[in-house]
Order: sequence, then structure tokens, then C-alpha cells
Amino acid sequence: GKKVTIQHLHEMRQSGTPIAMVTAYDFPTGRACDSYGVDITLVGDSLAQVCLGYDSTTRLTLDEMLHHCRAVARGSKIPFLVADMPFGSYHASSEDAVRNAVRLVQQGGVEAVKLEGGEEIAPTVRKLTSIGIPVMAHVGLLPQRHTSLSGYRVQGKDALSARSVYNSALALENAGAFAIVLEAIPHLLGTHITNRLSVPTIGIGAGPNTSGQVLVWDDLMSRWHGHKAKFVRRFADVQTEEMKGVSAYVSAVKTGTFPDSMNESYEMDESEWRQFL
Ligand code: KIV
Ligand code: NA
Repeated sequence: GKKVTIQHLHEMRQSGTPIAMVTAYDFPTGRACDSYGVDITLVGDSLAQVCLGYDSTTRLTLDEMLHHCRAVARGSKIPFLVADMPFGSYHASSEDAVRNAVRLVQQGGVEAVKLEGGEEIAPTVRKLTSIGIPVMAHVGLLPQRHTSLSGYRVQGKDALSARSVYNSALALENAGAFAIVLEAIPHLLGTHITNRLSVPTIGIGAGPNTSGQVLVWDDLMSRWHGHKAKFVRRFADVQTEEMKGVSAYVSAVKTGTFPDSMNESYEMDESEWRQFL
């Protein structure tokens, strides 16, 4: 495969070739993205929940994010590599955002950063873009604001709220975002925003007409069987495979049938053994 660039992503949008994006959190998942045709690898701050066991992405620190970016970057070479800026790492000031985005690029090895928010973060997006750090915007449902939103709820369902999501997307494109994630909005709004923008839209719960789709690794792989959002499709059932594998291993150890003394153990030369004794 050929290294995916921003230009390539824009060409895909123009030719109507859907963009496939998925999250990765470590070297093996990064490698899988690299090997099986993913266009954009995202080190999402969903890392907080699906890998680190936190109850919210707001718990994730920049240092934790950096640690995982480095692992993913070692495995994911061909896809365009984006990292979420953790909650709090781009809010205090544009200077703060620059410092922290530079760390993600310099120490984390990612090519671009993703920021949640609307017009209020446009100056930050403009600043990062102007110094050569590409920004992916993220509008609609903003998981980093789940507390003030009173939960993980579909956004843009009434005219006023739809207008606000639409205006956010326009403002962020204007500020220089190279692509925009649309999360949990009605598909009509997803289509409308996609048609009005000149940068690619990547949907998650935004219907089938965005320029691309993104899913969380653990959701699409069924790494766990907990709450499933409406927009999640389970493309594999890893949890069931893990359950089968671990149970069978434990049972084989307990019953003494693993390891086999012939095929799963090492031999020693008879004479060497006698000499040892
Ligand atoms: O953190 C994440 O996984 C994300 C995507 C699902 C868009 O932000
Ligand atoms: Na995220």
C-alpha cells in the first residue's frame, strides 16, 4: 500500500471513495490497521474507557495518550495517523494547545490531532493549522462534554440544535480543519453537512452519506458485550473467542493436559542428561 496523505483523503472525498477510519491503541492494533486497508488510524481518547478502564475520556492525561501514540505509530505506517487531544490539553489557551499538539507530533509520532468542539475552538484550530499541524475537527456528540450534555445523547435532533452543529462544522472548516468527524447526529444532517463542506466528513452514527466512517476498535471487534450504541455494527466477536480461548487454556492446565510432554516440551540429549545427573 501507499502512504495515505491529506491530499489523498481529499481526492477520495472528491471521487466518492469512502474513507475507512478506525481507532487503535497499541502496536498490534496499529499493525492491523496498517495491514488490512485502513485509511486513517485514530488513537482515540476512547483509549480511556476501552483500554485503561476509566469511566470517562475526561480522565485521560496527555502523558497516557503519548505512551499509546508511540506504540500505535510503530505499527501503523501506511494509514494517516491522528491522535485525539485529551480533555483539558487544548482549552486553556492556543499556546497550551500548540505546546501539547507539538508533543503529540514530536514524541507521539502522529501526523495530525483531533479536537472536540464548535466555533469556540476555531481560533485554536486556526493557530494549529497555521503552524503546520493538521487538525481534524469533531462535532455533534462530544464525549469529553458528556457531563454538561447530561449523557451521551444524539445531537442536532431539533432545528436549533441542527443549526448549531451545522454552524460548528462550517466554522471549523473555515478555521482550516482538513476533515471533520460527525458523531451521533441524524443522517439527514450528516448528508447536508457533507454536501455543504469541501473537506471530508467522517461519520460515527451520522448515516451512510458522509465521506467516510469511523468505529472504535473494541466496538467493531466486540471486545466486550456491554452497551452497544445504535451506530455500532459488530464485525467480529472477539470477546467470545477470548472466552473460549482462556477457558480452554485454564481447563487444560487444571486437568494436566497442557503442555504435552512430546510435542510441547523440549528434549535433551540422553548422554547430556546422564552427565548432568
Ligand atoms: O475517541 C474515539 O474513539 C473517537 C472516535 C470514535 C471518533 O473520537
Ligand atoms: Na475521541
